[in-house]
Amino acid sequence: MSERVLTGDRVTGKLHLGHYVGSLKNRIELQNNYDTFVELADVQALTTHFEKPEMIKQNVRYITMDYLASGIDPEKSTIFVQSLIPEIAELTVYYSMFVTVSALRHNPTIKSEAEAHGYKDLYYGFLGYPVSQAADITFCKATLIPVGEDQLPHIEQTRKIVRKFNQLYRPVLVEPEALVGEVPRLVGLDGNNKMSKSLGNAIQLDSTEQEVNEKIKDAKTDPERIHKNDPGHPEICPIYAYHRVFRPSGADEICENCRKGTMGCVECKRKIAKSINLLLEPMRQRRADYQEHPETVDEILMAGTKRARIEAKETMREVREAMSLNYFTSK
Ligand code: TRP
Repeated sequence: MSERVLTGDRVTGKLHLGHYVGSLKNRIELQNNYDTFVELADVQALTTHFEKPEMIKQNVRYITMDYLASGIDPEKSTIFVQSLIPEIAELTVYYSMFVTVSALRHNPTIKSEAEAHGYKDLYYGFLGYPVSQAADITFCKATLIPVGEDQLPHIEQTRKIVRKFNQLYRPVLVEPEALVGEVPRLVGLDGNNKMSKSLGNAIQLDSTEQEVNEKIKDAKTDPERIHKNDPGHPEICPIYAYHRVFRPSGADEICENCRKGTMGCVECKRKIAKSINLLLEPMRQRRADYQEHPETVDEILMAGTKRARIEAKETMREVREAMSLNYFTSK
């Protein structure tokens, strides 16, 4: 059987370099070899941001632009909106019959996210989003799910749901596998945390050349390097981490010069800003094309959603049949 890839993003903010390094780059390669589905997870975004629906609406368009600008090709990848596939909501209800509350409560990602959001009591939708994510994955019978480590509990939950469903009713669903990338998380401009929009330490993919230059200029470096010739500690410097990722062939030289104090931070930063701008430049051009024709973006989303819906309807028909919910079509 041929593989189908499904990935998705919560639409809570524009995408940044951390997303590019951690997932987009990989997706752009995967779409050449696999039938790829990319979900704009607006319903999942609502589980934590239900008070900001307009923000989610806006981000659906922003993120689609980020996808297209970065090289996700709508001819190869099916980009779709989660809330426009009602079968996902329907599957979520049926799966929720046989997922226990304690399984969800013990999900380590749910636990740490609940803590990060400061939730004392858990919203039903939030606690249940791994079930909804299982519906995201299974409605199109995806087999490969490229994810970061934090998503593994959700993939495991999905696999359990699939096994349970197939054993309870009929073998309709396909058990997916996680495809865990070896890419480490990109450090933020503050050097302390992973790159994240909410921490204000990110370079967004839609940054102008000047914005990149300014952000790099203001980025933290080794605090012990005060004078240009002070020996530095590249291992604690986010700029050096960026050299490793965005300018790998020159990174050893940077490391050596930094340790010896033979290259100052200004020059080192100038070099990395240039490489990042080189990466973003083709994205800027593609983005400008789409910005001139915003209706194309809507057309791409509608076409992708339509294609996804066809898959969803077929799976739903099989699920209803397996669950004896086919009252008027059964023989
Ligand atoms: N939970 C994922 C995240 O926070 C986003 C997501 C939603 C997803 N549905 C998915 C990822 C299905 C993989 C498959 O990044």
